[in-house]
Amino acid sequence: MQTKVTHLVTGGAGFIGSNLVATLLARADARVVVLDSLTYAGNLDNLEGLPGDRFRFVHGDICDAPLVRRLYAEEKPDVVFNLAAESHVDRSIDGPRAFVETNVRGTFELLEAARAHLKDGGSERFRFVHVSTDEVFGSLGASGFFTERTAYQPSSPYSATKAAADHLARGPTTTRSVCRPS
Ligand SMILES: NC(=O)c1ccc[n+]([C@@H]2O[C@H](COP(=O)([O-])OP(=O)(O)OC[C@H]3O[C@@H](n4cnc5c(N)ncnc54)[C@H](O)[C@@H]3O)[C@@H](O)[C@H]2O)c1
Repeated sequence: MQTKVTHLVTGGAGFIGSNLVATLLARADARVVVLDSLTYAGNLDNLEGLPGDRFRFVHGDICDAPLVRRLYAEEKPDVVFNLAAESHVDRSIDGPRAFVETNVRGTFELLEAARAHLKDGGSERFRFVHVSTDEVFGSLGASGFFTERTAYQPSSPYSATKAAADHLARGPTTTRSVCRPS
């Protein structure tokens, strides 16, 4: 029997997340659990037709620490993909609070739960994959490109909160204990 690899995908009902879920489930050894709060950007129709024996949808918020802890304990994920986000720049200028909540606090809660999960004997192969955006580096002109070494220069509440989440995911209290080197 094949060993299943369990993926927890946050924001899996969104634009990119739902495509990631379908791609992951194309592998017969993959199991996927989606955690999504179904904001205006989430759509359950994006997740129709997936194999029910290897797919679970959980309606919930990544800021809900007890729920997140419970999911790690129940599902014992091998990989967490964090795509849940408030993701529209214009909305962040009109109302930044939800961006700070989801993008910063939500990422923090996921990382804290991952730390506890590893302490409780989480899988040796555990990985936490945090999805960022090029916008953390600012704007390009007509030419040029960013690299991972480009200095951060966020220019909206959206990109500022994504940048903050990146730093949490890379920081000394989280990365070294959560993201084991490959
Ligand atoms: N779309 C792009 O062009 C693009 C480019 C670069 C990076 N990204 C990043 O990729 C990721 C996915 O982007 P997308 O375009 O699919 O976003 P999207 O807005 O289409 O989907 C976001 C999903 O997250 C869910 N969500 C929002 N807040 C949540 C919360 N508190 N708890 C649980 N779920 C919540 C929404 O319901 C939705 O399903 C985001 O992290 C985004 O910052 C997107």
